[in-house]
Amino acid sequence: MKKQVIISAPGKLLLLGEHAVVHGKLCLVTAVSQRFKLKAKSLPSDEFMLEAPEVGVVNYRKPLSQVGKGEIPQGAKFVEMALANFLKRYPQKLGVAITTEPEFKSTFGFGSSSAATVCTLKALSELSGKSLTNKQLFDLAFKTVLDVQGVGSGFDVAAAIFGGTLLYSLGGKTIKSVPIKNLSLVVGYTGIKADTTTLVKQVNIKAKKHPQVFNAIFDQIESLVIQAHKALLKRDDQTLGELMDINQGYLEAIGAGSVKLSQLIYAARNAGAYGAKLSGAGGGDCMIAITPNSKVAAVKRSITKAGGIVVETKINAEGVKIEA
Ligand code: MEV
Repeated sequence: MKKQVIISAPGKLLLLGEHAVVHGKLCLVTAVSQRFKLKAKSLPSDEFMLEAPEVGVVNYRKPLSQVGKGEIPQGAKFVEMALANFLKRYPQKLGVAITTEPEFKSTFGFGSSSAATVCTLKALSELSGKSLTNKQLFDLAFKTVLDVQGVGSGFDVAAAIFGGTLLYSLGGKTIKSVPIKNLSLVVGYTGIKADTTTLVKQVNIKAKKHPQVFNAIFDQIESLVIQAHKALLKRDDQTLGELMDINQGYLEAIGAGSVKLSQLIYAARNAGAYGAKLSGAGGGDCMIAITPNSKVAAVKRSITKAGGIVVETKINAEGVKIEA
C-alpha cells in the first residue's frame, strides 16, 4: 500500500449539448490539457487535513469522525465529501493530508470541482489499496458532485476520469470514446464566473413552465450532438461549426446566453470562425470557436479586442493518472 501519491486529472470543455444532457440527452465533451493536481499522504492519526490555498482553504483539519459533517468551507466541500463518501463505502481508519495544486483557475468553468473530486477518490483508492475501477470511481465521484451541487449530469466527472473526447449521457449511461486526433478550437474566457447550479436550476424552472417547447429544444440539441459526432469523425469542421452556431441559438432560447458571451461569439464568427458557441453552463465562463487554421490568429485577436481572454489549451487530454 502506498503512503503518498500525486494524482492529476484533466479539465474539460463541453463541445455541444450542455443543459440538454442534464435532461437525459447526449453531449460531446473533450478533456483539456490543463490539469488538476493533488498530493495525498496517509497520516498515522485519525485526521483529515487539507491545504487548498487557491480556493481559500489553509490549514484545514478535522477528526475523521467529523468528516462530511457540520459547516464545511465552500472550497473544501468536494474533497471532504469525496472522503466522506469513500469512507462510507469502504469503512476504515484512513487519516489523510491532502494538498491541491490546480493548473487552471476554478473561474474558467474547466471543471475544477469534478477534477478535484476524481483526484481525491483516486488518491484514496491508492492509499487504501482498494484500486477502484474507473466505473467505481465514476459512480462515487458522480454521487459526491450531486451531494455537493445538487444538480449535474456527470459529464465533467467522466472527462476527468476517462479523458479524450467522449459522447456522454446522464449518469454515465453512455460513455463512448470519440477517436479524433485534433480540433482547431479557439477558447475565449469572458472573465465572468458562471454559477452552474443556479443556471441549471433556472433552465429547469423554465423547462417545467414550458415543457413542450423545452423538450423539443432538448431533442433538437441531441440531434445536433449526433450530427456533430459524425462531423467530428470526418473532421468536417465547417459542418461542425454550423452545428455549433445552431446549438448556440438553442442555448440563447433557454436562457443560458449572456451579452459578454455573445460579444465574444460574434467576434469569433466575424473573424472567420466556422462556428462558435458558449461552453458549459453559460452566463459567463468560456466560449469556443471552431476555426480554419488560417484564421486562428485573426479569431484570437478578435476575441481579445472584444474583451475576452484567449485560453491556450489542447483537447483530448489523458484521463486521471498517478503522477508519482
Ligand atoms: C455545465 O458545465 C454543463 C451543464 O450541462 C450541467 C451539467 O451537465 O452538469 C449545464
